[in-house]
Amino acid sequence: MSRREQRRRGNPGRRVPIEPADIEAPPASRVPPAFRPPLSAATIPALALLPLRIFLGVTFLYAGLDKLLDPAFFDASAPTSIVAQVAAFARDSPLSPLIKVAEPYALLIGLPIAIAEIGIGLGALTGLAFRVAAVGGAALSILFWLTASWATHPYYYGPDLPYAAGWITLALAGHGGLLVSRRILAIGAAPPVTRRDRAGRPVERGGPPSPERRVLLQSGILAGISLVVASFALPVRLLGRSSGTPTASGGTGSGGTAGASSSPGSTATATRGPAASVPAGAIKVATVADVSRRGSVAFAVPASAPAPLPAGDPAVIVRLKDGTFVAYDAVCTHEGCTVEWDAADGVLLCPCHGAAFDAADHAAVLQGPTNTPLASLPIVVDAATGNIYLHA
Ligand code: FES
Repeated sequence: MSRREQRRRGNPGRRVPIEPADIEAPPASRVPPAFRPPLSAATIPALALLPLRIFLGVTFLYAGLDKLLDPAFFDASAPTSIVAQVAAFARDSPLSPLIKVAEPYALLIGLPIAIAEIGIGLGALTGLAFRVAAVGGAALSILFWLTASWATHPYYYGPDLPYAAGWITLALAGHGGLLVSRRILAIGAAPPVTRRDRAGRPVERGGPPSPERRVLLQSGILAGISLVVASFALPVRLLGRSSGTPTASGGTGSGGTAGASSSPGSTATATRGPAASVPAGAIKVATVADVSRRGSVAFAVPASAPAPLPAGDPAVIVRLKDGTFVAYDAVCTHEGCTVEWDAADGVLLCPCHGAAFDAADHAAVLQGPTNTPLASLPIVVDAATGNIYLHA
């Protein structure tokens, strides 16, 4: 008896509307092949989400490897290091109290983050522990949104929130069996039938497979593969370093000598005033020779720098056409990426969204999306030693 019939009997005399559940599908054998769905219900969303899955998988795998291969990422003195980034997050993020606790361990935190990105990318691409990887991707993206992208206005300029939405979608949909090897699908699945009972019925070895066991097994294998992939990156990075890969330089030692003098006329400070003595406690950050040769030198403001200096921030010293030197906090006032000196155009350029700042005019904005100039840093040049000092 159909559901509609049942309801009609329970309500004699009443009109019973037809509902979708009342419509019974004809047996599959009576449906002409042309009208049968070509793909299962699970495969259709998986197929539609395949571009998203591949994009996020490749992006996270690349991001993890990029961190491990970048000699500056784990170099605490480099302006693009994880140390400098965490210091900037500690200032702007709503998680600031937590990040300040974690700040001393920034170098240690950078490594598991890079390995987790590799694992998440591999999980998305291979289907191994797929949902665990997708949930991990969402969690990491939300963490990045609350830190690296938090200063982005409007919010849709930042990539991390869309990444999080994409990962959540994948976590809900699953891989649908697409582009996943049978061996991976078999991990943690029912064990093979190995023997038969007296009546000739097959008897399974072991208990029934549990989803938890399956997830645990696949997650363990994925973690192991990620560690192996990450370990390959380490020697490559060390090789790159020993072959003289340039790092953003800038000494961070406190080499300032109180009372040292500079020769008027041969040097200039950030404010282009007359050269002054090196103040007590000034911090040597570069040399005139270095900046003159390269046009600019990136450095990290030492973590020990006194306020109001932006301790831990990436910074840059530029030699202007008139021979003077200027220094700026290199944290872009849009989203917080690190700006770089573009010698060809003679501007400080942000690689993230293209903001450009005029180094010769107090880092005034030449091109948005920000309206705020970079923060100037006070420097003094000691002509006697050829050192450039940062001072509070
Ligand atoms: Fe967006 Fe710099 S972070 S332009």
